[in-house]
Amino acid sequence: MNPTVTVRPVALVTGAAGVLGRAICERLCRDGMHLVLADLNLAAAQAVADNLDRADGQGALALQVDMGDNASIAALVEQAGGHYGRIDVVVNNAAVNHRGSLADFDPALWDHMMAVNLRGPAVLCQQVLPYWKAQMSGRVINMVSRCWVAGGPPAYVACKAGLVGLTRSLARELAPYNVTANAVAPGMLPSAFTQDGRDEAAFERMAEGAVRVTPLGRLTTPQDVANTTAFLASGDSAFVTAEVIHVCGGSQLAPFGNL
Ligand SMILES: NC(=O)c1ccc[n+]([C@@H]2O[C@H](COP(=O)([O-])OP(=O)(O)OC[C@H]3O[C@@H](n4cnc5c(N)ncnc54)[C@H](O)[C@@H]3O)[C@@H](O)[C@H]2O)c1
Repeated sequence: MNPTVTVRPVALVTGAAGVLGRAICERLCRDGMHLVLADLNLAAAQAVADNLDRADGQGALALQVDMGDNASIAALVEQAGGHYGRIDVVVNNAAVNHRGSLADFDPALWDHMMAVNLRGPAVLCQQVLPYWKAQMSGRVINMVSRCWVAGGPPAYVACKAGLVGLTRSLARELAPYNVTANAVAPGMLPSAFTQDGRDEAAFERMAEGAVRVTPLGRLTTPQDVANTTAFLASGDSAFVTAEVIHVCGGSQLAPFGNL
């Protein structure tokens, strides 16, 4: 964050109850930030917040949001801003993954994915903009995927490639307020996102395939992603904007089938 900010920064993380969201919240909390844990699943977000509270004692705020619903996003920002009085870091991490090839294409699912995975992050940033303007500092970190270059299920990849485009546009538009915008592109890791709808054998086959095409020879871990997110949220990345950091052991170099 801006080194001139002496108050404790506030980070709002969407999808905070998921595997990556939880690791990111834990890391940003260790780095001294207040946390707003936003998720569709409030009970699960509250459980993560309770653990942070026990470790930190500073209070972590769990709030429900549906990132596909603009009014819900506005209510989230109102509650978060009302509680802490500022919002510094936004991590757009929540996403849905209706897998499917072009042959299985369902326009209703396409619209839902675009709403949650792409429109939601833009609306969230729009809602937080008044805070960034007042603070003259901020960070946007958008969770994409290595598949934005490698390809994969069309709707998912289109969302993630779109989110890279949004990141680059935000980097331009928000720079006058000293707000950076970057994306993190993880490789495959086990979570509901990749495991739901697959039996163990199918998941194992996919994981083995992912390791095979990864020059550094293993799957991504949540800590890998949290470490890079923490860098982008910190003062150390003050002059880094409009970037996509791949956290996938070099597997963005190789094509690899559907997640
Ligand atoms: N798991 C992977 O292999 C992988 C790889 C690359 C990128 N990613 C990206 O990382 C991010 C997190 O993935 P994960 O693996 O932690 O998944 P996850 O399923 O563990 O977590 C996703 C979270 O998003 C929440 N969510 C779903 N719909 C929502 C909505 N409408 N509003 C608010 N919250 C909602 C879920 O409740 C869940 O807590 C996603 O953006 C995903 O595209 C994941």
